[in-house]
Amino acid sequence: MALKGLLGSVGLTLCFFVLELEPHQAQTLSLGLSVRENISSNSPIQGLCASSVILHGYKCQELEVTTTDGYILSLQRIPQGRTQVCDIETVKQPVIIQHGVLVDGMTWLLNPPEQNLPLILADNGFDVWIANARGTRYSRKHTSLDPSKPAYWNWCWDDMVTYDLPAIFDYVSNQTGQKINYVGHSLGTLIVLASFSEGKLVNQLKSAALLSPVAYLNHMKTEIGIIAANSFIGEIITASGEPEFDPKGLPVHRFMEALCRDPGVDCSDLFTAITGLSDNCCLNSSTVNLFMMHEPQPTSTKNVVHLSQTVRDGVLAKFDNGKITPQIYNLSNIPHNLPLFISYGGEDALSDVLDVRKLLDDLKFHDADKLSVQFINNYAHADYVMAFNAKDIVYNHVTAFFKRQF
Ligand SMILES: *[C@@H]1O[C@H](CO)[C@@H](O)[C@H](O)[C@H]1NC(C)=O
Ligand SMILES: *[C@@H]1O[C@H](CO)[C@@H](O)[C@H](O)[C@H]1NC(C)=O
Ligand SMILES: *[C@@H]1O[C@H](CO)[C@@H](O)[C@H](O)[C@H]1NC(C)=O
Ligand SMILES: *[C@@H]1O[C@H](CO)[C@@H](O)[C@H](O)[C@H]1NC(C)=O
Repeated sequence: MALKGLLGSVGLTLCFFVLELEPHQAQTLSLGLSVRENISSNSPIQGLCASSVILHGYKCQELEVTTTDGYILSLQRIPQGRTQVCDIETVKQPVIIQHGVLVDGMTWLLNPPEQNLPLILADNGFDVWIANARGTRYSRKHTSLDPSKPAYWNWCWDDMVTYDLPAIFDYVSNQTGQKINYVGHSLGTLIVLASFSEGKLVNQLKSAALLSPVAYLNHMKTEIGIIAANSFIGEIITASGEPEFDPKGLPVHRFMEALCRDPGVDCSDLFTAITGLSDNCCLNSSTVNLFMMHEPQPTSTKNVVHLSQTVRDGVLAKFDNGKITPQIYNLSNIPHNLPLFISYGGEDALSDVLDVRKLLDDLKFHDADKLSVQFINNYAHADYVMAFNAKDIVYNHVTAFFKRQF
């Protein structure tokens, strides 16, 4: 099963699913995703620290950050490596790790400790903070809104730029007194690039690593994604009345089935159809199985609509509500002296090489000694998070890059 594009592309593809479907459709397709009717009843009692970190011998703290619009985001802090004795003397550099759309912080932790990014960073002497996007399993609390009500879901990634990243950066800054390193994957790169282009976060930032960067999506290769993005824009929210976009939920499941009746879409292996890929260099099947168990995670339908606007418009702009022309995020405005590490893959169906080149063109006046670009020929979208060989191929370069900045 080709899962390579999944982390992002399920998000950018399943997404567009209008949900106005007859409820009696036969559920004959094997979509690979079980239907989850009630996320809260599915949630494990224990958090990520207990399920995926502490059992490997690392310290880990469960924390919560409240945004100024009331969303309560969970954050896991891994303050030191497994073998390090508590050395209060050494000041550690913090790293915030932000996942992509339709997954949560757990995706970073599916591989064994010696293969996964958060624990590799901890073992390299960093103070690691794993973020979990609003709406995902561990970040569904709010000071006044309830996720079972539409009002909770009235947001898109602009709000992650405006509220979530600043709240997380302020919190980590406050707790550590240090400038922050950042690692983003997929949507985690988009929101930070958009932030930088508005001059946000830059005063608190030390450096940023952008894995599978997503800024433009004009060349996205995923078959269903393209069909979906071209078919269903804008009307989704009103048409579906389903403010939460849960890939494991019944409405999305039904929509997938309807989409798969299109003769142009080969759903014999749905994930191949989604990712546009059938080969698979670097994912261990045991990791894929864990992924299927724990992911994907919900986001808001409005976020999905915003992403599909990005696919179609070819510019990076704020949410288009159809009333006024949305303001653009001009990535040329990213300060030229920000230390940036960018890694992109030749097999990435979502973050296509041509789209990354457009991003790099926006960065053409960046200080040469502050921009480090890596191209990995056989890597696809999910490899940056879950490949068994990502340590040697990517993560060691990320840690070296962070250590080089001063
Ligand atoms: C979901 O599960 C929780 C916990 O079991 C329960 O309290 C809640 O009522 C359920 N919600 C729905 C919509 O079934
Ligand atoms: C940061 O710390 C200051 C001083 O303790 C406090 O007033 C402020 O609210 C804190 N900000 C955040 C985002 O935690
Ligand atoms: C794949 O996972 C299995 C089970 O965790 C492990 O035994 C095997 O060594 C892994 N393969 C690679 C290449 O990491
Ligand atoms: C973005 O900013 C650059 C430099 O400030 C400017 O030359 C360019 O025209 C802007 N692009 C758009 C689409 O506004």
